[in-house]
Amino acid sequence: MAAALLIPASALAQDDETLTKQVELEEAPEAKGESYFDYPGMDELPEGEFGEAVRSGMEAFVNTLQHPEAKRHVGNGQNCANCHLGGGMAANSSPMWGAWGIYPKYRGKNDHVNTMDERIRGCFTYSMNAGASEAGGPPKPDSQLLKDMQSFMFWSARGAPLGENLPGRGYRSVEKPEDGYSISRGKSIYEAQCAVCHSGDGSGKFTADGKQIFPPLWGEKAYNWGAGMHRINTAAGFIKYNMPLGKANPVKKHAALSDQEAWDVSAYMNSHERPQDPRWEGDKASTAEKWHDHACLYNQEVRGHTLGEGTQ
Ligand code: HEC
Ligand code: HEC
Repeated sequence: MAAALLIPASALAQDDETLTKQVELEEAPEAKGESYFDYPGMDELPEGEFGEAVRSGMEAFVNTLQHPEAKRHVGNGQNCANCHLGGGMAANSSPMWGAWGIYPKYRGKNDHVNTMDERIRGCFTYSMNAGASEAGGPPKPDSQLLKDMQSFMFWSARGAPLGENLPGRGYRSVEKPEDGYSISRGKSIYEAQCAVCHSGDGSGKFTADGKQIFPPLWGEKAYNWGAGMHRINTAAGFIKYNMPLGKANPVKKHAALSDQEAWDVSAYMNSHERPQDPRWEGDKASTAEKWHDHACLYNQEVRGHTLGEGTQ
């Protein structure tokens, strides 16, 4: 086990207030006639210093685990593009061209102006588990990495209207089925339709030299207990139009699973241990009370184990 993983969870406590208070935004409107924003192609990549920044930012987004600077802030086995398909461009897979123009945004719910800078740092903190990374946390505000990543996002949104919730932004939401969800049904779906790529134990697949082939979904190399994806509703929305890869299609809004199946398999995926919530309050009950008042299994008993132990 790497030394960084032995840090007690309490040492990971998030000290940056703005990062503890990330919130979900309202859903984007439906596209009219299935037409989404026409993002630029690779042949439109600019030249010069700005072009360099865009390329570096795109590389950091797609191959985060390989990018020399970005990888220092990754404490698990994830790339940004694992959850933002099409290299961050696919509609209904939380595309960066949809995100760019809605920040900075004041949110009454967390009572401050949310900037893109802080949104990206939040993704490092939770989805990429930056607390267990070589750098020990997310990139510093105004660092070259954040400039590059924002250059990529800005470029991807060229010509898009500012301040508008564009069709295709974010993930689609999938309403909770009337009879709730079943973790055991989810297990059968997972084994039949997901395990072939993500492995039976959720650990994904990596080459011998550590290159990711399929991302891990739970365990020490997955997103942590504070990430948006640990919410059963959020992951169900992602899974419904994005997975199984090659069968669902976010841009065509084509699903391979029913709403019920998406909720069931999302619940199964999120009924396993993963790295601790960086907003750890000292024990599971207090952390649950302060941060987990939503559809998730943190501090819930599943298969005889109370979840939220973390993997450190
Ligand atoms: C494990 C899956 C996952 C990974 C990995 C991930 N994200 Fe996200 N991201 C999400 C989810 C889910 C949301 C939706 C908001 C929420 O509930 O957190 C989101 C939202 C965002 C948003 C806001 C989108 C909007 O329209 O408001 C941005 C920007 C973003 N992510 C950037 C990144 C960057 C940059 C990285 C890599 C450093 C990254 N994400 C890695 C799952 C992920
Ligand atoms: C054919 C292989 C394949 C199958 C089958 C598959 N996935 Fe995936 N999955 C992927 C790949 C590849 C990615 C990353 C996509 C990218 O980087 O563009 C991914 C990403 C994800 C993510 C993003 C979260 C993360 O932490 O990286 C989730 C959640 C997920 N898959 C769940 C599922 C579920 C649930 C099923 C079964 C219903 C499933 N997948 C079936 C290949 C697959």
